[in-house]
Amino acid sequence: MQEFFASSVSGCEEVLCDELRELGFKSVRLNKGGGIPFRGEWIDGWRACIQSRIAQRIQVLLGRFPAFTQEELYAGIQSIDWGTYITSEQTISVRSVCRGSEMQHSGFVALKTKDAIVDQIRAKTGSRPSVSKDDPDVRIFVYLVANKATVYLDLSGDSLHKRGYRMHAGDAPLRETVAAAILRMSGWDRTTPLVDPMCGAGTLAIEAAMWASNVPPGLTRGRFGFERWANFGEQEEQDLRKLCGELRRDIAGKKVKIIASDSDAEVLEKAKLNARAAGVRPSFKERPVTDLQSDGTKRIIVTNPPYGVRMEIDPAFVAKVTGRFIKLSGWRVCMLDESGDYERSMTIKPVKKIPLLNGALECNFLIYDIP
Ligand SMILES: C[S@@+](CC[C@H](N)C(=O)[O-])C[C@H]1O[C@@H](n2cnc3c(N)ncnc32)[C@H](O)[C@@H]1O
Repeated sequence: MQEFFASSVSGCEEVLCDELRELGFKSVRLNKGGGIPFRGEWIDGWRACIQSRIAQRIQVLLGRFPAFTQEELYAGIQSIDWGTYITSEQTISVRSVCRGSEMQHSGFVALKTKDAIVDQIRAKTGSRPSVSKDDPDVRIFVYLVANKATVYLDLSGDSLHKRGYRMHAGDAPLRETVAAAILRMSGWDRTTPLVDPMCGAGTLAIEAAMWASNVPPGLTRGRFGFERWANFGEQEEQDLRKLCGELRRDIAGKKVKIIASDSDAEVLEKAKLNARAAGVRPSFKERPVTDLQSDGTKRIIVTNPPYGVRMEIDPAFVAKVTGRFIKLSGWRVCMLDESGDYERSMTIKPVKKIPLLNGALECNFLIYDIP
């Protein structure tokens, strides 16, 4: 059994924890300091990379040891057998976070860790891996907290929000993982018709359609980090192919109404291309949000309206949007809000308000049940 660690965007940890439990992973728990540890065989780590919609990264624990000094750090790193994962021809990157420790400089801790790894490989093989910041084969993370080092190897490679389907983005696109997280926070049952009336490049609608049909988000992307490890050979390739085949067979092809609209025809074209690349078919409409009508059927809106510094907004626009939303009797309306403008403009209180980070912006995800 390995100990894995899933991380998410700040504020999305609880829904990530729910998701990992629902996906059947073992010993899933919510860490106080953020992140979700869980246990499993190697293949469970791969499966988490392919199936989790919310995780940004999946890492595996390689070692834990006290490190008050650089000598202790070096010795602890050298006690791990790096040759299993890294060959001397490969490239690596080391990142580190330090908190409440004698060694306070994360750059120094990363450098010492890198030295210990390359020295070990050079001593065994005569040559050493090099460092790549942009596209390393193997990524190592060291957390030094209260003089205790925890060393992880990253299974993801590029961050997991890069699904591979969004080749075309509009203004202020939502990270795919954040879109998946707010869909889960919204309480959507994956059956009720879902509407995004300001859909931009379609991220929320596409993620909703993938979730409703059980399409694993990792099937559309390129190689994961673990596929570049030294120990990923022919047998592992076969096992991974088999796993992807099994996950593909579980795709449900369920018909759920997902309606995405935007007033910008150009961005809608991008959204359609993205949906095609993701293999899902929400319906797209060119329509201003103010034309949204209730036809008496219960629906749920999940949307990322224009806000904050990324998009200029006029208070009259916010009033028009909230004025329309409040008329959708019986609907659930969920939206991200950065400045509090939408919350102040709604005439009712949200049933839930969840703080989360959207890129660098501290936002709230607001959930309203319209009476
Ligand atoms: C923050 S972006 C949405 C980004 C989207 N979630 C994504 O990931 O690509 C807000 C969107 O609202 C749209 N919008 C602005 N005013 C609108 C209006 N009056 N009616 C409909 N859409 C509008 C913009 O065209 C833009 O695509």
